[in-house]
Amino acid sequence: MDEASWPRVGILTVSDRSARGEREDASGPMLIKLVQEELGFHVAQYAIVPDEQEQIADILRRWADELGLDLILTTGGTGFAPRDVTPEATLSVVDKLTPGLAEAMRAASLALTPHAMLSRAAAGIRGRTLIVNLPGSPKAARENLLTIAPALRHGLALLAEKAGEDQRHDAHGGHSAGRAHQ
Ligand code: MTE
Repeated sequence: MDEASWPRVGILTVSDRSARGEREDASGPMLIKLVQEELGFHVAQYAIVPDEQEQIADILRRWADELGLDLILTTGGTGFAPRDVTPEATLSVVDKLTPGLAEAMRAASLALTPHAMLSRAAAGIRGRTLIVNLPGSPKAARENLLTIAPALRHGLALLAEKAGEDQRHDAHGGHSAGRAHQ
């Protein structure tokens, strides 16, 4: 794997209205920009799917198993609305849970809004792919991703068994240290 393109990321927007073309997807493009420009990761895939559990699960399996993406970020479908099933789709495909990521996002978000309690976002690992659910609004998706960003590169390096990718276990973690090799 070309080091410049690691980690390879997929952005999956989950929204009935955006999938039907009734509402422009704002969160997906925002995440692409954030991931590329602020995290320095490589965005390899982007798609929009409706709030259908099997369709979401299918894409997650395909991006993990066939494309071998390192990280998949979903946005949307984590709330209480009857059609919100992104966490269920995610839980149906992961081998391991990574609860620390979801706990950190909810804890940090709770300091910003009590509505953070309404996010049922899950996170977990399928094979060598980390899957993280983010809320649907651009603001919430950005706030949540920035919360976990400092630990992401180190976590992904451990998952990929990239020796020496990020040896720093100190509190500053992956963000500045992680960009050093690029
Ligand atoms: N987290 C942060 N940091 N900022 C927010 O504005 N909005 C919340 C929550 N998490 C929010 C947040 C709201 S209003 C909801 S309903 C849930 O995320 C789920 O959002 P979703 O249904 O769009 O996925």
